[in-house]
Amino acid sequence: MSTWANLNLQDSASPLMEQLIFFHDHALLILVMITVLVGYLMFMLFFNNYVNRSILHCQLIEMIWTILPAIILLFIALPSLRLLYLLDEINEPSVTLKSIGHQWYWSYEYSDFNNIEFESYMIPTNELATDGFRLLDVDNRVVLPMNSQIRILVTAADVIHSWTIPALGVKVDGTPGRLNQTNFLINRPGLFYGQCSEICGANHSFMPIVIESVPVNYFIKWISNNNS
Ligand code: CUA
Repeated sequence: MSTWANLNLQDSASPLMEQLIFFHDHALLILVMITVLVGYLMFMLFFNNYVNRSILHCQLIEMIWTILPAIILLFIALPSLRLLYLLDEINEPSVTLKSIGHQWYWSYEYSDFNNIEFESYMIPTNELATDGFRLLDVDNRVVLPMNSQIRILVTAADVIHSWTIPALGVKVDGTPGRLNQTNFLINRPGLFYGQCSEICGANHSFMPIVIESVPVNYFIKWISNNNS
């Protein structure tokens, strides 16, 4: 989870989020190079008085400064497209989780396992345990197996919500009347926090998501305990 004064992305907990961070750094590097170059050129143009009175136009330099930025943009566009299609790829998921946005809480259904379903409410500050995270912890966590392909189906019952977990690189809108799909793989155990990120009404800020990533055998135990 993110802690105080963290301006960076959270540590990734999935291969796709790792790739997203790599792409972010790559794009930022290109951005810095462009900013430095343009900044230098502007600075030099402001602070010198040289004028070339014989040049009125030059097609060669026009060609260069049109095509060169286009080539630089390709270095962002191609990795971006690669990631876009990679994020959409579904690889035989072993668990399907359905999450439904409500005003203002999430409810979950494990359709593969005798249709376990529960609601997940934020724990109010006055009921928070001493080690709890304010506005971020919930009463019923989403338990999911680590190192497994997981499919998420997101929808909503009233208005548009968004199921967003920064550490996993997941952000899917839950739209009434539609069923959106995404998938991810969690590569370490732990708690992963997320929040709704579609302005959905008065208590939009108070419908967090907590994923409890556990080893597969723990997950099977949890599932069978909930089935009985
Ligand atoms: Cu649900 Cu914002």
